[in-house]
Amino acid sequence: MSSSASADDAPEPSTAASPSTAARSPWRARPEAAADIPAVRRINLAAFETAEEADLVDALRRDRSAWLPGLSYVADAPDGTPAAHALLTRCHVDDVPAVALAPCAVLPAHQKSGAGSAVIRALLDAARAAGERTALVLGHPPYYPRFGFAPAASRFGILPPQPWPDEAFLALSLDGSTPPRGTVRYATPFGID
Ligand SMILES: CC(C)(COP(=O)(O)OP(=O)(O)OC[C@H]1O[C@@H](n2cnc3c(N)ncnc32)[C@H](O)[C@@H]1OP(=O)(O)O)[C@@H](O)C(=O)NCCC(=O)NCCS
Repeated sequence: MSSSASADDAPEPSTAASPSTAARSPWRARPEAAADIPAVRRINLAAFETAEEADLVDALRRDRSAWLPGLSYVADAPDGTPAAHALLTRCHVDDVPAVALAPCAVLPAHQKSGAGSAVIRALLDAARAAGERTALVLGHPPYYPRFGFAPAASRFGILPPQPWPDEAFLALSLDGSTPPRGTVRYATPFGID
């Protein structure tokens, strides 16, 4: 399946949060469509200092063992323009499949107005619906606990592939089960050994 097939195979757009909070949110989170790919690149270029994350998204989209159709999400601003992007790709805890949340990006003009939270919540819901069980993220320690993430190593015995700080490498059980213990292996495009 080609990576751009993600749009056609993707589930219906999901709400960004519970029905009550989604009703108040101006952000409409939905799976990436093929037509969104240039906007996704623009969002990642604008949100980060270098092109590294934008190039990573493109490399992951080309990697059939990493890309998970339907698990690249955007959030549209009220005018219908994509303003936020978040991506889950295949990783493993030892040999057990899991998903890695990276990158997450919001256009600078729209940061800190709920777009990132909307797109991440919708994406995690989509992963749950797809039967994914464990999500991992390396990121800003104060940000990700709001989605239920907790320190992977100290809480779950999930070790990072490199000596990352305990408070920055986080895990989330998507289905309420106890996550597998082991060491995380990221998809090749991340370049993490
Ligand atoms: C990080 C990012 C995805 C968050 O999305 P957002 O839409 O700006 O954030 P939201 O509006 O959903 O949430 C706002 C909250 O996130 C916090 N926040 C935003 N950026 C943060 C950061 N870099 N570090 C820590 N907290 C951050 C805000 O302080 C705010 O906290 P509060 O709710 O306690 O007041 C976005 O700011 C972004 O693209 N940043 C640049 C790229 C980046 O760093 N990506 C993440 C890589 S791990």
